[in-house]
Amino acid sequence: MAKVELLIHLAVTVTCLTISCHSLSVQPEQIHLSYGDDATKMAVTWSTPDPTNDSFVEYGINGFSQVVMGRMIKFVDGGTGAVVRYIHKAVMTALKPGAKYVYHCGSPQYGWSEVFYFTNRLEDANWSPRIALFGDMGNINAQSLPRLQKDAEMGMYDAILHVGDFAYDMDSDNGSIGDQFMKQVQPIASILPYMTCPGNHEERYNFSHYKNRFMMPGDEDGHSMFYSFDLGPVHFISVSTEFYFYVQYGILQLFRQYEWLKSDLAAANKNRDKRPWIITFGHRPMYCSNNDHDDCTRYESLVRVGIPFIEIGGLEKIFYENGVDVMFWAHEHSYERLYPVFNRKVYNGSITDPYLNPKAPVHIITGSAGCQENHDGFIPDPRPWSAFRSDDYGYTRMTVINATHLYLEQVSDDKGGQIIDKMMLVKERHGSYS
Ligand SMILES: *[C@@H]1O[C@H](CO)[C@@H](O)[C@H](O)[C@H]1NC(C)=O
Ligand SMILES: *[C@@H]1O[C@H](CO)[C@@H](O)[C@H](O)[C@H]1NC(C)=O
Ligand SMILES: *[C@@H]1O[C@H](CO)[C@@H](O)[C@H](O)[C@H]1NC(C)=O
Ligand SMILES: *[C@@H]1O[C@H](CO)[C@@H](O)[C@H](O)[C@H]1NC(C)=O
Ligand SMILES: *[C@@H]1O[C@H](CO)[C@@H](O)[C@H](O)[C@H]1NC(C)=O
Ligand SMILES: [Fe+2]
Repeated sequence: MAKVELLIHLAVTVTCLTISCHSLSVQPEQIHLSYGDDATKMAVTWSTPDPTNDSFVEYGINGFSQVVMGRMIKFVDGGTGAVVRYIHKAVMTALKPGAKYVYHCGSPQYGWSEVFYFTNRLEDANWSPRIALFGDMGNINAQSLPRLQKDAEMGMYDAILHVGDFAYDMDSDNGSIGDQFMKQVQPIASILPYMTCPGNHEERYNFSHYKNRFMMPGDEDGHSMFYSFDLGPVHFISVSTEFYFYVQYGILQLFRQYEWLKSDLAAANKNRDKRPWIITFGHRPMYCSNNDHDDCTRYESLVRVGIPFIEIGGLEKIFYENGVDVMFWAHEHSYERLYPVFNRKVYNGSITDPYLNPKAPVHIITGSAGCQENHDGFIPDPRPWSAFRSDDYGYTRMTVINATHLYLEQVSDDKGGQIIDKMMLVKERHGSYS
């Protein structure tokens, strides 16, 4: 008997030496969608702990009639753990506007993900996109996540905007916190485009987790830290506010973004007859009435005015001159709606309604989806530009109704999903305020 066992053991050892017997983790996980460069495209990103070499998405309106090949990226984040993960990126093409699609991703050799469904956006500007917005949602204490998931599954949204700070942090525990977080958001992000901008919590290793785990429009590698996309009557612009703070990764990136903004805003302004709204989102606000010592609490915040003393590269002036309608921010773990404001001065639209044809952009800070850093408090006396603030956990819902009307509401998770704030922004004319 002993001899037989020894022989079997030897046989197994020899076999394993030649063909490798360690278990394989090749099942697609962390599956999420994002918009492609135009309405005929939708990107899919997923992850496998072991390599599969091939990365495919099969999709179609009736069954899997279309297929695209993506690419697999071997991602090692730059930390001492040197953990290797494989990220797969593919772009579905030739999508029909407004059609409902089925898809799965993976490989014919190792297997496919479960199936998911999504409705492709319309090319047309005459529809009313419904979007959920929030920032600062972590792996721990993700207060808004269950309600957001339910909303998404009930078909309440067309897209999600996560305004920076993910997982806390995606690189933590050799990146396993990032993996867990991406699994947590998969139920939402696999059925709706999950659009992002980088926050300070993504800073490690030159934002490598952000750049590798997401794929945003406008960049072959999907490594773009800033980009824009059109949705119904809106031109959305996503910016990195982190270039102002992590200058060790290259101050030139700030100027590159600023130059890009100039041309993107100029093009968007030429197209305003078709897409009248310009809405921006970036992580760190220019204004806030919180009681921490963040940039937004300072008189001349870096994001607002740019490089100190020379005041170059700030975002407020360029957004004002180009008639940005609404700016969304996060970073502060709270919600704050501002009156129309420019250069710290309130520019209400009319005496009875500040949001009727305002003479400056409207800022919204929505960073309270929940993370292990809990809340950020407020200073006792709000500034004149502060219209409403709340420290409840929650998120923002936006419907861009048509060319003139935009509706916002703030959901409180502390109050069981109650709407604690509302705003109707009415603009009969869009364009530069100056
Ligand atoms: C991936 O491709 C390489 C080269 O074509 C091959 O040597 C390797 O065995 C493949 N690995 C898997 C997991 O299929
Ligand atoms: C990260 O990976 C390294 C090397 O594999 C290991 O020594 C370390 O304990 C890991 N750290 C954590 C927090 O998992
Ligand atoms: C950080 O990444 C950006 C690209 O996203 C690159 O342009 C820059 O040179 C990198 N910085 C460093 C210090 O590697
Ligand atoms: C703007 O409108 C709000 C709400 O009506 C009002 O409280 C505030 O005083 C107005 N500010 C200015 C500068 O007109
Ligand atoms: C835009 O939507 C508002 C609010 O629902 C509505 O009152 C208005 O008539 C709409 N405008 C057009 C041109 O349909
Ligand atoms: Fe932040």
